[in-house]
Amino acid sequence: MKKKQRDFTITTLGAPKVLTPLELSTQRNDGQANYTNDDQYVLYDIETGRNGPDRIFNQKELLEMAGPRERIFFDPAKVHAAIVTCGGLCPGLNDVVRAMVMCLWFRYGVRRISGIRFGYRGFLSRFGLPVMELKPDVVSDIHRKGGTILGSSRGYGDCTGEIFDSLEQMNVNILFAIGGDGTLGVALKLSKAGVNVIGIPKTIDKDLAETDYTLGFETAINVITEEVDRLRTTAGSHQRIFVVETMGRHAGWLALEGGESSGAYIILIPEYDFSLERVNELVLEGRKAGARYDIILVAEGAKPMGGTEFVRVEGVDSFGHKALGGIGEYLANEITDNTELECRSVVLSHLQRGGAPCAYDRRMGRYFGIAAIDLITNNDYGKMVCYRNGRITSVPLSRVIGKTNFVNVDTEYDKERYNGRRTIL
Ligand code: F6P
Repeated sequence: MKKKQRDFTITTLGAPKVLTPLELSTQRNDGQANYTNDDQYVLYDIETGRNGPDRIFNQKELLEMAGPRERIFFDPAKVHAAIVTCGGLCPGLNDVVRAMVMCLWFRYGVRRISGIRFGYRGFLSRFGLPVMELKPDVVSDIHRKGGTILGSSRGYGDCTGEIFDSLEQMNVNILFAIGGDGTLGVALKLSKAGVNVIGIPKTIDKDLAETDYTLGFETAINVITEEVDRLRTTAGSHQRIFVVETMGRHAGWLALEGGESSGAYIILIPEYDFSLERVNELVLEGRKAGARYDIILVAEGAKPMGGTEFVRVEGVDSFGHKALGGIGEYLANEITDNTELECRSVVLSHLQRGGAPCAYDRRMGRYFGIAAIDLITNNDYGKMVCYRNGRITSVPLSRVIGKTNFVNVDTEYDKERYNGRRTIL
């Protein structure tokens, strides 16, 4: 990468003097939608005692409210935006792409929008992948489809320099990167090198920091719930135990929330190493209490006390990720051997990332996409759009990278009963 920072900003405009083409209202309570102004914030932390803070908040405690501004830093004729979807697939990607294209095109009159093919690979000349020109008719019905029309790929080590050069050659001056921690880590590096970049959070694992939601999660939870419902037919008729292995490399949200929504008896997550003896005990206790069958949910990254994660393939990918898998089968064998009850395992694997997005992911994809455009009109780069405390907002990428959104095992997981949150049913 060239050492000198490149200035991709649209210099002709300076301060936001341009009146937005959007016709919204500046008056409150007049029955019309308002512009958002720079003094509207979302509180980072909303938990409080009866006596709230009697002080002025400092900037770190506040997140800027997403929304269209009255004056914008934006010259549509000079914009060449690029959109890239990277990493593992998830439902909702097309919804973001569609929302961004529609918003850029119809709200702001931007006419140059390039879809980068197959993730960051599309920037690397050795792959010879032509860009996809994105227009309303290309994206009009993609929100109902799973996956991404652009294609995706996992990383190639540190190719930030090549991406930077490619952006420059293509005269792209705004980049939208939709992905998880690997993708957004590259986005942060690009931002530090002077690229105008906005990140959009997606991963069915919901392990990205600083956002209450990542695209794809809710669809994956729906899949888990539906598949567990189906397994109950066999489990009940044959008095079997089913161990269902979900994704969730570092964080156990899929197993935990999927287990809660499907009513699993035992839930095992990476954040808390389980005791095999306790699992066997719980299974036997359940039978004694009259259970006809059991459903156990285990995240792929969960491991027994003193053990290590189960890996499918040795080694790590270019982001240092191991390919996990196998804990479900191990557990099923151990339970069968130790309890003499019939136990089988099912790996949900990529089923959780496939198919059309559920309604929630369609809406969140749309909200994230529109918020990303609001950010660029306000010259607010180097950020990830996020969902925090019931509001769409944004956070600097530098606050996201290098952290993980783990399940808090002290407040959100019952370590004694190996079950979900401490709700006594
Ligand atoms: O997106 C993250 C994730 O869902 C992990 O939980 C899982 O380990 C990984 O993707 C598997 O993805 P793939 O097999 O497509 O590389």
